[in-house]
Amino acid sequence: MNSDFEIFMEAELRKLEEEGLYNQIRSLQGPQGAWVKINGKEVLNFSSNNYLGLANHPETVKAAKKALDLYGIGPGAVRSIAGTMTLHQELEERLAHFKKVEAVLTFQSGFKANLAVIPALVGKSDTIYSDELNHASIIDGCRLSRAEIKVFPHGDLDSLQGLLQEKTNGRKLIVTDGVFSMDGDIANLPGLVELAEEYNCLIMVDDAHGEGVLGSHGRGIVDHFELHGRVDVEIGTFSKAIGTVGGCAAGSERLISYLKQKARPFLFSSAVTPPDVAATIRSIEILSKDDSLVKKLWSNGDYFKQQMKKTGFDVGESQTPITPVMIGEAQVASAFSTRLFEEGVFAQSIGFPTVPRGKARIRVMISATHSRDDIDFALGKFKKLGEELGILR
Ligand SMILES: Cc1ncc(COP(=O)(O)O)c(C=O)c1O
Repeated sequence: MNSDFEIFMEAELRKLEEEGLYNQIRSLQGPQGAWVKINGKEVLNFSSNNYLGLANHPETVKAAKKALDLYGIGPGAVRSIAGTMTLHQELEERLAHFKKVEAVLTFQSGFKANLAVIPALVGKSDTIYSDELNHASIIDGCRLSRAEIKVFPHGDLDSLQGLLQEKTNGRKLIVTDGVFSMDGDIANLPGLVELAEEYNCLIMVDDAHGEGVLGSHGRGIVDHFELHGRVDVEIGTFSKAIGTVGGCAAGSERLISYLKQKARPFLFSSAVTPPDVAATIRSIEILSKDDSLVKKLWSNGDYFKQQMKKTGFDVGESQTPITPVMIGEAQVASAFSTRLFEEGVFAQSIGFPTVPRGKARIRVMISATHSRDDIDFALGKFKKLGEELGILR
């Protein structure tokens, strides 16, 4: 490789290491569960988005195996050229029913769903209003669209209204995360919907961390606020609570017909594999029938947060099971995470650019699969290391 680039990359990597921001990727020697095996050692898993344990649920695994026999492993090509498997259509119909919308289109991931939908809806002469803490895939989707992007301070509806009052031409889109994944707070979707209606904007919510968590049976943020029919586009991802891989856009029949003709990742990239689709269908069936996993997730999250607060940790303003344990400096958060791992708890530190500088944290992802003993084990370790590293005094 060109030596200028070698030197550039080496310097960037060294800088990340010095700042405590170098991302150490752990190798899992087995499935995502409440406990995972890393370097031959069983550690408590507080890092995965597998909120409900569906990533390794016997029923989803069984459905994936069956789909392999019936449909094979690959989709062949993009759906608009090779034809679409009935399995993908079945998933889209089931999702539409589950989310109480007219229609759904699936994509290869949640990230791709945002890259697909935003540039299809707005372009050069249009305006996007985007929360400053929106996920990277929303930010990239906005940039790809070439629309003017007006970023409003996190959750600040007054500032948003100020921006909406400025004169613009073209179409307008308000876009927000549903649950903000680094803090666990929930967007004020009713307020955003009202502003969208008042200022004639399209409203889009990315419900990646709300699906399987919020609303009846985990139907998501729109159900949580009973806003059915008032949110134009719901983005979903299957890689969190649903336990598989894939993404989707949900909305009106017309929106979905339009996206099938215009969304580039749908038109130019192959669909998710049949086993993933079948497992996703099974996850939706499990959720529809029984909300006990969702309830367990919430009781585990509430218990962990309460106990951490009692111990003296700052766990931010989370309104969901996501628990940010606020540390401050990235180096300290990184050292905390390393010591937790040595003590048997796998909980990642998160620093800049994922969260602002000086707001590094350990992000704890509780799951329905954790037992009370698991959580108590972790609480003991957090207390011990909080004292050891001078975070608890
Ligand atoms: C809000 C949000 N949108 C999209 C994504 C991307 O989802 P996927 O993993 O399906 O690409 C994530 C995952 O981190 C997310 O948190």
